[in-house]
Amino acid sequence: MAFIEQEEINRIRSSASIVDVISSYVPLTQKGKNYFGVCPFHEDHSPSMSVSEEKQIYKCFSCGATGNVFTFVENFLNISFAEAVELIASKVGISVAVNFSKKKEIKFKEENEAMDLALKFYQNNLNTESGKKAIEYLKKRDLHENTIKDFSIGLAMDQNMLYKILSKKGYSDKLLESIGLVHQIGNEEHDLFQNRIMFPIHNLDGQVVGFTARCYLKEETPKYINTKETILFKKGNILFNYHRAFDSIRLLKEVIVVEGNMDAIRLYSVGIKNVVALMGTSITKEQMAIFKKLRSKVILMLDNDSAGENATLTVGNLLEENQIPFQIVRLSGEKDPDSYIIKNGKEAMEEVIKNAISFVDFKLNYFKKNKNLNDASDLAEYIKAVIDGLKNTNDIILKEVTLQKLSNDYNISYTVLKEQLGMTELEEKKRNEKRVEKKEERQSSYDKICRKILFYMMNDKEYVRLYQTKLGVFPTKEHRIIANEIVYYLEKNKTINLADFITYAENMNLKDEIMAIISNEKDLVLTEEEMLELLAIIRKKIKKEEINKLKALIKEEYDVNKKMALLEKITELKKENGD
Ligand code: GTP
Ligand code: MN
Repeated sequence: MAFIEQEEINRIRSSASIVDVISSYVPLTQKGKNYFGVCPFHEDHSPSMSVSEEKQIYKCFSCGATGNVFTFVENFLNISFAEAVELIASKVGISVAVNFSKKKEIKFKEENEAMDLALKFYQNNLNTESGKKAIEYLKKRDLHENTIKDFSIGLAMDQNMLYKILSKKGYSDKLLESIGLVHQIGNEEHDLFQNRIMFPIHNLDGQVVGFTARCYLKEETPKYINTKETILFKKGNILFNYHRAFDSIRLLKEVIVVEGNMDAIRLYSVGIKNVVALMGTSITKEQMAIFKKLRSKVILMLDNDSAGENATLTVGNLLEENQIPFQIVRLSGEKDPDSYIIKNGKEAMEEVIKNAISFVDFKLNYFKKNKNLNDASDLAEYIKAVIDGLKNTNDIILKEVTLQKLSNDYNISYTVLKEQLGMTELEEKKRNEKRVEKKEERQSSYDKICRKILFYMMNDKEYVRLYQTKLGVFPTKEHRIIANEIVYYLEKNKTINLADFITYAENMNLKDEIMAIISNEKDLVLTEEEMLELLAIIRKKIKKEEINKLKALIKEEYDVNKKMALLEKITELKKENGD
């Protein structure tokens, strides 16, 4: 929750004109009540984004992007919510509290403190007698004093030193276990990390939430021991080095993605700062969402082995699916970016990054693997794979160039290749249409009605009152939570409108569902009678479900009296439903 009062945020928002603000970044033209422009949040050429002065929100009919004036500048300028509020406040001449920052609710204060202490402890160990060997190792790996400091690298020793120190400070075993610093063996607590070089891992906000710990006295398996999933460490939404790289990424509009933390450390320490590490070869949905939100070009530079090559294809496909612009670097000679820089230096690395290739070019090469292109069926397979790899590209020039190249290189009729691509694209289109149909089917009509009710509740307090008196609950948990939030918001603020509620919803887990509701709903006028009808439909549906549940209970009930009671309840419900 923001540090600044919701009321103040609402005041700033309502002092600004969304049309003025957006039109200072994107040209808008007025058509009737609304304004239209080219949506900046997806690859677009026609004006599919509408901006409503009346509602103070924008909506893209093509990609579904929606929000208020804050979310627009947040996403367009790639700034935080706090910065967005500050920016809009300055535009409308309101001065905001001096140290206004998006002060997150600190949920795990003690846990964070223990983590910070552990970090300090590990760092300090490097200065001890046993730290000498560790420093030697780090030097051997070309990690110098500044880098060791910048990345807060440390050392874990043995004899459960960390556990002893933190216990003495009063941290409970349970707490220390819950953040993955110690574990129980038999009846005793032991340090999880022993005799390893410690690299702290920060969450996106820069708080230390875990460690990746490397062996150094001798090569061991596992090479790294990482913090397991804990209350602080959510592996899926962490990118190593993100908090340090963020400013540089924003400035350059480019993010270099590598596998290993050592690779990220190397690039960063030579001054290529816009780098993050996946900490492995797979990518999670949450990480993908982070890249999407960065609205920067991804430079995918995974290791120079077959795992890295296969991962490039998999991750590339995912980036393409998510419409994140990206290019690929495949290193030659060295096994990973770290050793490449050690061997060839920073300039050579900058050069290969500048020469990053397209995904299609990568695939032209990749699909040759294990194929003998002098063999007719291998060649046919290869050509089909490359053409299949073109189906998701919007770049018609790239398609054209690739087809020409295939035609020249392998002496195949251009027309035939073009025809094959046409068929592949048609199939893909059909598949996509089926997917959309399925999605719509899944979203039953009841679900649609609930979403409609929620949409109008966000717009008008009268509809919230109607909901409270006539329905009071939704069939699904998600919708129940959203409705509760709306009711809570109204109680607190005495009034509600879409544009302000959007800001409030920004901090909710169900934000995506709320935005989907807003972007799917056409803003038509809804009369009170119509609302009552919608509420009645859902009320009946809920009662019906209750009846079905009771019927199931009756079947399992052997006690006659209880059976009777259940039957009575059913009759009552049926009467209420007018059956
Ligand atoms: P160095 O050998 O120290 O240069 O490591 P690196 O940074 O080059 O990492 P590498 O490319 O070998 O592996 C990529 C990532 O996978 C690392 O950053 C780790 O997060 C993870 N990883 C590597 N080895 C292990 C392992 O043995 N166990 C676990 N759990 N993770 C590992
Ligand atoms: Mn490495």
